[in-house]
Amino acid sequence: MSLEEEIRRLKEERQAVLLAHNYQIPEVQEVADYVGDSLYLSRKAAETDRPVIVFAGVQFMAETAKILNPTKTVLLPDLRAGCGLADSITADQLRTWKADHPGAVVVSYINTSADVKAESDYICTSSNAIKTVSALPPDQEILFLPDLFLGDYVRRKTGRKMHLWAGDCPVHAKMRPEEIDQARLVHPGAPVIAHPECGCASAALSSVDQVLSTDGMVRFAEETRVPTVIVATEVGILHRMQKLNPSTEFLPLSRGAICPYMKEIDLADVRDSLAQLRYVIDVPAPIAAKARRALERMIAA
Ligand code: 13P
Ligand code: SF4
Repeated sequence: MSLEEEIRRLKEERQAVLLAHNYQIPEVQEVADYVGDSLYLSRKAAETDRPVIVFAGVQFMAETAKILNPTKTVLLPDLRAGCGLADSITADQLRTWKADHPGAVVVSYINTSADVKAESDYICTSSNAIKTVSALPPDQEILFLPDLFLGDYVRRKTGRKMHLWAGDCPVHAKMRPEEIDQARLVHPGAPVIAHPECGCASAALSSVDQVLSTDGMVRFAEETRVPTVIVATEVGILHRMQKLNPSTEFLPLSRGAICPYMKEIDLADVRDSLAQLRYVIDVPAPIAAKARRALERMIAA
């Protein structure tokens, strides 16, 4: 029996749903029940009636699924699947920042630990950050964390003054505007689409055709009819884009844009996770209750 067949059999046996992020390796995406961005997968986690959720993604995503489903078993197939961006702020650091700005509301990107979410008023993802910030009263003081590039992008788009935490994603921050200039020379006329975590997305906003979440990129791929598109994000997304639109060539802005955390999970890990019900993700009840308020505001919006 192939690993894929074993996983399908075990999913039924365990009554499990398998969620996979767009950056997972192609083989894991192919065997998943749902593939998508952080917002889409949070919604799928919130609405599932299956007792077991296997999250092929990173730790903060599995924690989010657990916060939204306290009575379900949530599994992360490899505990090394963390997130460099989420690690850039701790709950203690956030408490100190809040104390310096009494009266400010905290808008946290979903790429944060459960402890940080519990100290936050609103959670957003790359799909809804502009909408979340725009909905706040115009004179409201805002602390936005942890991604500096996403924050800068939202600040420019909304015209809102926000205090930004100086965190970044080790994979996206490295992408520079000069790489876009180079790609445009080699592929004249090809649109450049970029994730808002990219170093190139805010510094060279005018040189990027569209700034999109990973699912925004997938929708772009489905609709475009141009021969070549330059994609500035983690390379794992190219599999889905190319599969949905084989007539267009999707090229990475940077071939080295590989998230080591997302790549910790392979098919054998997913199989073992289902077979041995490991690794169970738990969030202490008081933290989960506080984080859930901020997350539910986002899911409902
Ligand atoms: P998306 O929500 O756009 O999928 O982004 C998640 C992420 O971790 C990007 O690095
Ligand atoms: Fe975290 Fe960056 Fe990896 Fe996304 S690509 S999971 S932000 S380290």
